[in-house]
Amino acid sequence: MAVVKITVKKNGPFRVEAPEGAIELVDADGTPYDLTGKTAFSLCRCGGSVTKPFCDGTHSKIGFQAAELAVKKADNLG
Ligand code: FES
Repeated sequence: MAVVKITVKKNGPFRVEAPEGAIELVDADGTPYDLTGKTAFSLCRCGGSVTKPFCDGTHSKIGFQAAELAVKKADNLG
């Protein structure tokens, strides 16, 4: 079984679950985010979070629809 589990939430964030210390999350400059004590967190993929890269729940307020849903809809048109 994998140590890290990433779940693509329907029309929501990427949910990351891992033992404490198993993941290092860094910004574009290589500065690490403090994940002390965290065994799970969610990464924003809607672009609306004010606490990026973490999800703050904004996706549900703005009606975010994930790309895979858009692709399915486009496929049905053809
Ligand atoms: S995915 Fe939740 S705020 Fe962006």
